[in-house]
Amino acid sequence: MSQRIKIKALLESEQTNIEVTVKGWVRAFRQNRFIALNDGSTNNNIQIVVDFENTDPNLLKRITFGAAIRVTGELIPSLGQGQKVEITAKEIEILGDCNPEEYPLQPKKQSLEFLRENAHLRFRTNTFGSIFRVRNSLSFAVHTFFQERGFVYLHTPIITASDAEGAGETFHVTNFDLANPPKIDNGEIDFKQDFFGRATNLTVSGQLEGELGAMALSDIYTFGPTFRAENSNTTRHLAEFWMIEPEMAFYDLEDNMDLAEELLKYVISYALKNNAEDIEFLNQRLTEEEKQKPQQERSDMSLLEKLQFCLDNDFQRLTYTEAIDILKESTPNKKKKFQYPIEGWGTDLQSEHERYLVEKHFKKPVILTDYPKAIKAFYMRQNEPDAQGRETVRAMDILFPGIGEMVGGSQREERLEKLEQRMDEMGIPKEELWWYLDTRRFGACPHAGFGLGFERLVQFVTGMGNIRDVIPFPRFPKNAEF
Ligand code: 4AD
Ligand code: MG
Repeated sequence: MSQRIKIKALLESEQTNIEVTVKGWVRAFRQNRFIALNDGSTNNNIQIVVDFENTDPNLLKRITFGAAIRVTGELIPSLGQGQKVEITAKEIEILGDCNPEEYPLQPKKQSLEFLRENAHLRFRTNTFGSIFRVRNSLSFAVHTFFQERGFVYLHTPIITASDAEGAGETFHVTNFDLANPPKIDNGEIDFKQDFFGRATNLTVSGQLEGELGAMALSDIYTFGPTFRAENSNTTRHLAEFWMIEPEMAFYDLEDNMDLAEELLKYVISYALKNNAEDIEFLNQRLTEEEKQKPQQERSDMSLLEKLQFCLDNDFQRLTYTEAIDILKESTPNKKKKFQYPIEGWGTDLQSEHERYLVEKHFKKPVILTDYPKAIKAFYMRQNEPDAQGRETVRAMDILFPGIGEMVGGSQREERLEKLEQRMDEMGIPKEELWWYLDTRRFGACPHAGFGLGFERLVQFVTGMGNIRDVIPFPRFPKNAEF
């Protein structure tokens, strides 16, 4: 194998008049003379100049859109506009033909819907090349952020017997013959005979196991796939998504919010620095897309401006109770424009309310804290009831413009009695979570953590409207293709 150079490196090369070998896929072939070659290292193509008069016509015919080729030639300063260097081909080899009559992709703009149905090929477009390079950078940045701060990357299990969020949205894991599972006398399925000797499911969150780690290692984080069988066909939900879940001993809610805000700013700024070209491209794409929309639906900021704005401003922190007061007094509420009017205290906020707070009222990321106890998970630390006897927990949600909830977290209930009492109230089986309760029995301490939905982060940084376009192979109701 001859030394192959990636196109990104070639385009940045200071050296010319050297022999180089490139391998990639044909993006265009004009006038039987100019090949635009791409290898996915960047959206920019290298131009290859073909001496067609001295090239076998049968080979020229096979240089088609999508074909994989190898080119060896001389890297020279470019005569044409738009590129610094180009290659004069000495040798062209077809590595893989691509019949243009049959190839589903066309050398023109294709809709995101079409590309979603052809997700096996969509990596080959500039948009998805940029998205997945940015996604890659963001995940590297997440690790860098935590590693620089001495956090331990903890691998929590994918298969579990618990439902950490208690929302009952788990996917079962079994190796029973589904047509004929063994039953006990009363007709119920006998999970004792199943692979794990009990009913198991795919994890909805690594938090509970993460807490076990934090109770000895101090600071841990998980970064793995999580699964939810919620039947939400929205642009913000996936059945399989990646979550980052740090868990920190001796942290209170303030420390938790500080860390989450720092993490978000760090990874956004990392992507802006390391993926400038790709984000610039996506910025352009979004600007074009916005032009198709009616004036009042267009956002006042470009993607780049939004990202910079997020770095330059403190996130707005306020309690759920304060947010309810703002929403109650808001124009859309008074004019009955909300589908779910804000009447009293205690109900969960709908996305229209979150959007109002973030996009209209504060116009920046918002951290809401101290939600009503009744609408949050059992493990959140309970506050003293307020003067009016209202009960809240030390929860925090970070809401982002255009995204909604990006982060959900809390200080944890470290007091055994309070935790057990809450589990009883909510019908969470204590005997199954005996190991979790042990952390409250032996060396319990104040601690906190949060979950960052990785795809929602990628959505924010790439400006993509649909979460199905920021994960290579999205899983959602009625779809598990590829
Ligand atoms: O708010 P959630 O459900 O919180 C937890 O799972 C906690 N155990 C986290 C913790 O404290 N360690 O989920 C956390 C985040 C949400 O804020 C959202 O960004 C994302 O995960 N998320 C989803 N992303 C895509 N598709 C879905 N179906 C999601 N559900 C939650
Ligand atoms: Mg949540």
